[in-house]
Amino acid sequence: MASRGRWKHDETNTRKMPVAYDSYYQTEDYVGAPYPELVAFYAQQADRGKLLDLGCGQGRDAAALARLGYVVTGVDYSEVGINQLHAVAQREDLPLRGVVADVYTFEPFAGYQHILLDSMFHFAKKERAQEQRLFRRIVEGSDPGTLLTICLQDVGEKVAVLDGLIAEYAGIEEVKRARFRYTFEDKASGHRVETPYLMIALRI
Ligand SMILES: C[S@@+](CC[C@H](N)C(=O)[O-])C[C@H]1O[C@@H](n2cnc3c(N)ncnc32)[C@H](O)[C@@H]1O
Repeated sequence: MASRGRWKHDETNTRKMPVAYDSYYQTEDYVGAPYPELVAFYAQQADRGKLLDLGCGQGRDAAALARLGYVVTGVDYSEVGINQLHAVAQREDLPLRGVVADVYTFEPFAGYQHILLDSMFHFAKKERAQEQRLFRRIVEGSDPGTLLTICLQDVGEKVAVLDGLIAEYAGIEEVKRARFRYTFEDKASGHRVETPYLMIALRI
């Protein structure tokens, strides 16, 4: 396994800037409900503990997991999304807080028992290198034994790119690999798109 680096403990890399998701998130529950497969997987885990949701959006997963008893920190650069997450946390008195930050500079990854990235990795040619760097930073910067869960579209070569990254680290244990279908509905037009999805959980 590659060596684990040490990362500075600071969360001062917050920034305020308008992002496309700020306008998408004018629609409530823009991406819909959390995947039942994801919620069922986390419901089965013996250890709840602290969970970091990178690219948490409006907090559909973060809130669902806080309801299960995880102590959740959500990170997103959409201030609108983070405000909505805080509203749910307050309304339901959940162990859930949000940070407005860029996940590519956010740290630390240590101190969490769980890290989740749902629909954050796309591995399109333009962003592939920075997403690969983020994966490596998470693996090398998180505590040994952390459960890293990644949900991504199972189309094209995305899963092959992820598998290539996992193969770089001999010590990673694959805990779960589940395929399911996710339907995105554009609430304004009613247009629905169904996509094959993959959830991979890794003990890193
Ligand atoms: C497809 S949405 C998924 C949201 C959430 N994970 C979910 O599944 O509901 C992608 C999210 O990633 C956020 N995002 C994309 N790039 C980011 C970055 N560099 N830093 C922080 N957030 C980012 C977007 O603002 C958006 O909320």
